[in-house]
Amino acid sequence: MIDVAGLKKEYKAGSEVVPVLKGVDLSIEEGEFVCIIGPSGSGKTTLLHLLGGLDTPASGAIHLNRSELTSKNEKQRTIMRRKEVGLVFQNYQLLPTLTVYENIIFPLHADGKKASEGDVQMLLEAVDLGGFQKRFPHELSGGQQQRVAIARALIHEPAILLADEPTGNLDRQRSSDILDLLAMFHQERKQTIVMVTHDMFAAGYADRIILFKDGVIEAEVKREDDDYAKFLARFMA
Ligand SMILES: Nc1ncnc2c1ncn2[C@@H]1O[C@H](COP(=O)(O)OP(=O)(O)O)[C@@H](O)[C@H]1O
Ligand SMILES: [Mg+2]
Repeated sequence: MIDVAGLKKEYKAGSEVVPVLKGVDLSIEEGEFVCIIGPSGSGKTTLLHLLGGLDTPASGAIHLNRSELTSKNEKQRTIMRRKEVGLVFQNYQLLPTLTVYENIIFPLHADGKKASEGDVQMLLEAVDLGGFQKRFPHELSGGQQQRVAIARALIHEPAILLADEPTGNLDRQRSSDILDLLAMFHQERKQTIVMVTHDMFAAGYADRIILFKDGVIEAEVKREDDDYAKFLARFMA
């Protein structure tokens, strides 16, 4: 579903060029729930934005659903993103002047499509916001806002959901609500999920945990591996 090869990215800071991704190779299966953990500044968000076609790498290739992303121009990337990818950001990024309902259907409108009333209602129920569709973002808790953001990311039924620290601003109870929700979409809709977090509690929901450090993948572990518990324990500390 996702294939990344030799991915490099750098930023310019004045006259200096700072490498951020230093050659990332990564393969994610259809229906996998993968979590990327790692220290702040290690390049997790940069990688996720590249996967979502929001930015372009210095070199390397990204295949999403067998289609090469990095050779496309911005317009083509946007079209591909709208088709294949749903994005959830740490700070929700809801549009403040739109209601919950309007926020959720926004990606369809941006794409010139009409929302099916049944689909929107089903999604509203799935994220437990049935009675909230006429509310505005500022009338919701952080957890509720993040659930709107997740519904918005899923309205066009993308093959891949990319979530950047989706529980980063939430307390433990609201975090588990969001993670249970992602786990449900993963199980019931076979959604491929790539979630960035630095919370090991959140990482525990994934099939595979990838440790990112200093712009490269340092280690990874699958749930079925013998050293899975040891791996978790090492980073819980
Ligand atoms: N737009 C940008 N311009 C310059 N430097 C950036 C930019 N975005 C990120 N960086 C730098 O790249 C590094 C990795 O950032 P990021 O991908 O956000 O890390 P993480 O999500 O793991 O915390 C950091 O050192 C950050 O300062
Ligand atoms: Mg980040």
